[in-house]
Amino acid sequence: MRTSGAGRVTLTAAGREVRVTGWVHRRRDLGGLMFIDLRDRSGIVQVSVGPDWSSPEALETVGALGPEDVIAVRGVVAARPEAARNPGMATGDVEVQATELEVLNRARTPEIPVYLPPEEELPSEKLRLRHRVLDLRRRDLQSRLALRHRLMLAVRNYFDSRGFLEIETPILTKPTPEGARDFLVPSRVHRGEFFALPQSPQIYKQLLMIAGFDRYMQIARCFRDEDLRADRQPEFTQIDVEASFVDPEDIYGWCEGLMEELAAVAGIEARTPFARLTYHEAMERFGCDRPDLRYDLEIRDFTSVMGELESHILRSAVAGGGRIRGFGLGGGARLSRRQILGLEAAAKAAGAPGLLWAKITEDGATGPLGRFFRDDTRARLGVAAGDLLVAAAGLDRTTSPALDATRAAAIEALALPRVTEHAWLWVTGFPVFEETGDGSLAANHHPFVQPHPADAHLLDSKPLAVRGLAYDLVYNGTELGSGSIRMHDAELQTRILSLLGLEPEEITAKFGFLIRALGSGAPPHGGIALGVDRLVSCFSGGGSLRDVIAFPKTTAARASFEGAPSPVVAAELSALGISVDDGK
Ligand code: AMO
Repeated sequence: MRTSGAGRVTLTAAGREVRVTGWVHRRRDLGGLMFIDLRDRSGIVQVSVGPDWSSPEALETVGALGPEDVIAVRGVVAARPEAARNPGMATGDVEVQATELEVLNRARTPEIPVYLPPEEELPSEKLRLRHRVLDLRRRDLQSRLALRHRLMLAVRNYFDSRGFLEIETPILTKPTPEGARDFLVPSRVHRGEFFALPQSPQIYKQLLMIAGFDRYMQIARCFRDEDLRADRQPEFTQIDVEASFVDPEDIYGWCEGLMEELAAVAGIEARTPFARLTYHEAMERFGCDRPDLRYDLEIRDFTSVMGELESHILRSAVAGGGRIRGFGLGGGARLSRRQILGLEAAAKAAGAPGLLWAKITEDGATGPLGRFFRDDTRARLGVAAGDLLVAAAGLDRTTSPALDATRAAAIEALALPRVTEHAWLWVTGFPVFEETGDGSLAANHHPFVQPHPADAHLLDSKPLAVRGLAYDLVYNGTELGSGSIRMHDAELQTRILSLLGLEPEEITAKFGFLIRALGSGAPPHGGIALGVDRLVSCFSGGGSLRDVIAFPKTTAARASFEGAPSPVVAAELSALGISVDDGK
């Protein structure tokens, strides 16, 4: 139907006849001169009603065209007059002078515009998601999805050339614990029983290692019924990797090589080797386990100096086993009271009772903290006139998240310059366990992480101090991936599950198949999973994950174009043996 993509018509074809097809992006009527911007996936070409074809009928056909009508145009490629050239367009030097135009299909008036004049804002995302098919015609979304395709192609080639096999794992499975709720699928054949959609292929990839596949990868769809945030979708994709006879260095090496290749595809920088921080260093210096290292701003411990000041808050925090930590913000004294309250609001939203601050002046310090300063306090803290000192006092588990949030707010308020545009980081040695609200233990990640051999003796006495052979890949403050070396010993795996509070029968019911497999000669193994949606989003200029998924879920966990989830008829439910309690 066509001789060329619309966006591929260039001057080299001048004088030749072409047939182009696509959508009416925009039609302009310049007093008898008619122009159509014809769009297809390859781009846009300008069609003019050529001198050989400007009959009244032709002008009428063109005049009746509406936006998003689908047309085919036959015409001759001509150079545009000098003054009409558009260097901002790949086809800006040419136009197709139409000799024939066929309407292939009409479009009703689009609910949201595909062509948007530069001064107009995009319609709301809610509306755009409702009309996703039209929204997907926009160049921005088309190019993000095209980048996604190119990145995934590079991923497959990368792992293929290193001996990895892509193996599909089941979608109808047994629950895989990754910390979220499962999506359940009722079995019709086995009434009252349910499959779970996989939260990740974690257990299956371990089973594949035990089965001797040695190096596995899969671009795998995962499903988690969890509260949505900008960086989470209930249905998302991972580059899932597992290998046998490896240590963390092997995984780091593969991932760094992969990131170099993917960054090259996306036109960004990934200089290897990536920086590394232990989990404890990250929490100490940045208050979070995925610090954004584009900014040079680190938490300092002010306890020894500030703990001596005559402040009840400071003294009682230290007496209660806490510390006083914070930042010296160079030039921060210029922040207004409102801006400082903004920093405090960030700390409070992250769970701190408040934020202490002092503005350092030529001859002293002001503010709620500044008034306690002694003559030597400024010098001992190493701050200078013009600085703003902000601090949080208390237990690390409260102050760390508060200072992480304060750091982000201060970076924005002070418009801190970046030291790099691309900050890559490995965070290593995550704890195996975390404490739940009721004092019991939960897996910090999933319950298959191998404890660090040096900490194995602490498993019973101080389980919270046990580090795992676990690591995260962080890019500009986003957790791109997470992995670990796993337990390959059935006994140790069983012991960890019982430390997590599982009774022996529960272990058998939920993980018996894994324990059985581990006992059949499991090789040492480990791996990682990288979040595809986050990766593509980071590599295509950031923003919401919804911009890199063709048909994403809304923040209310709905598919708004097709209208899912939706009720099903009673007969279908009864075939499944299910009745719905409507909560009334
Ligand atoms: P984890 O649960 O950390 O690890 O997931 C790995 C990576 O997947 C991405 N991710 C998500 N992306 C979008 N929406 C979500 N709801 C979502 N949840 C996770 C993140 C994250 O870093 N089986 C382990 C991996 C392993 O140990 O090998 C796992 O799934 O980028």
